[in-house]
Amino acid sequence: QEKGWIAENLRLYEGFWYQPMHGLAGAMFAQEHFQARPDDVLLISTPKSGTTWLKAIIFAIMKRTCYTSCTHPLLTTNPHDCVPSFESVLFGKPPVADVDNLPSLRIFATHTPYSSLSKPILDSGCKIVYVCRDPKDVLISMWYFLAKMRSKELPPLSLEEAFDLFSRGIVGFGPFWDHVQGYWKASLECPERIFFITYEEMKRGTFLKVKRLAEFLGQPFSMEEERERVVEEIIELCSFGKLRNLEVNKNVPRNIPHLKNDAFFRKGEVGDWRNYLTPQMVERLDQITNEKLPGLF
Ligand code: A3P
Repeated sequence: QEKGWIAENLRLYEGFWYQPMHGLAGAMFAQEHFQARPDDVLLISTPKSGTTWLKAIIFAIMKRTCYTSCTHPLLTTNPHDCVPSFESVLFGKPPVADVDNLPSLRIFATHTPYSSLSKPILDSGCKIVYVCRDPKDVLISMWYFLAKMRSKELPPLSLEEAFDLFSRGIVGFGPFWDHVQGYWKASLECPERIFFITYEEMKRGTFLKVKRLAEFLGQPFSMEEERERVVEEIIELCSFGKLRNLEVNKNVPRNIPHLKNDAFFRKGEVGDWRNYLTPQMVERLDQITNEKLPGLF
């Protein structure tokens, strides 16, 4: 056990660090209870890598024929409530018992590492979308996020301390690099099953990536939809500026102490690490990245 980032002891399980209440419980749910279907979609990510954004985009792609632009659920529901995470189904939305009863074309999210995915999930043929992000931006995003959730009785976590833990792999669902490596390798072996994308690629080429994602999900945009600019509408609906300014994504409490919906929308930029990390920190993180994930970011 190691002192973790959120004032609780992280636990090492199958080579990865977990916060017991949400993290480990989510992995156990994935391994022991989840009955995958071939038409399920799983969004898998390292935390703070764009999960909220991809939840919104996948939901908007897959449900696009169900809603008009004025009645869209994303206008009134936080993306985390549109696409439940294994890490949270145990705590309410939807309750575990309901997951099996949800109609097909289900979409779920999880942070479970590839090596801990159960054989039934892997054998089910369900589609996996994996999103990751430059670890330097993940570290800064995570540092801010955890500061909001940290108990007020504890001293604030310094960036130096956060950097030290992160670079040693001690963070929920870490080591970060091993998490990404597992899905990267698997996606190269089986690209029809795993759509691997980085936050940076999504930012650089949103239009083409949304189209590719729709094809991967088996719901390509028709010529008519393209003429009607449906892709652009989805991109706009799911954009950082749009989602962040919706009432539902502001000061609304979630089912984790101190956590409100606005914590998922901070800056939404690539390269904010430049404002925080020292050259030594950058060198260390880049060194690990070049060793474990050469050429990825
Ligand atoms: P920053 O803290 O760098 O701003 P996750 O959803 O995996 O927890 O990741 C959160 C990060 O994604 C935060 O990064 C957040 O601001 C950013 N984000 C949230 N919604 C986004 C959107 N619609 N487009 C781009 N980035 C988004």
